[in-house]
Amino acid sequence: MKILVINGPNLNFLGIREPDIYGKQDYKFLLSMLEDYAKEKNFELETFQSNHEGAIIDRIQQAYFEKVDGIVINPGAYTHYSYAIHDALASVSMKKIEIHISNVNERESFRHISVTLPACDGQVVGQGLKGYLLAIDMILEQ
Ligand code: DQA
Repeated sequence: MKILVINGPNLNFLGIREPDIYGKQDYKFLLSMLEDYAKEKNFELETFQSNHEGAIIDRIQQAYFEKVDGIVINPGAYTHYSYAIHDALASVSMKKIEIHISNVNERESFRHISVTLPACDGQVVGQGLKGYLLAIDMILEQ
């Protein structure tokens, strides 16, 4: 079982950006948490982070050729307006779970809309970094 975790713009700034919202742990901590979980649950893990929309689309397309079994994606602010990332996700048929660290539904109104969610099979919001593990569980349970 191969799972790809994609993080979009500004998620490399975890621990630096708005710690009251996203927590004090940095992106390196998130990666080591994911690696530990991959060992514990015995799946193959790939991770990718980019601040660029096209690079995220390229990585989603690459996942098709690599026969990735599931994608966990935090598209960051692209969630709210990237139809191109929506279309890339809709192009590939493996299970896809969207994750947001913060509770987007209780923040500014522009964050209430996800244009990428309709191309995914489920969503986790407002669970902090633990949300990534919950999203992985949703793929492993398939
Ligand atoms: C986020 C929520 C988005 O609205 C925001 O633009 C992010 C992070 C989250 O994980 O809570 O960059 O996706």
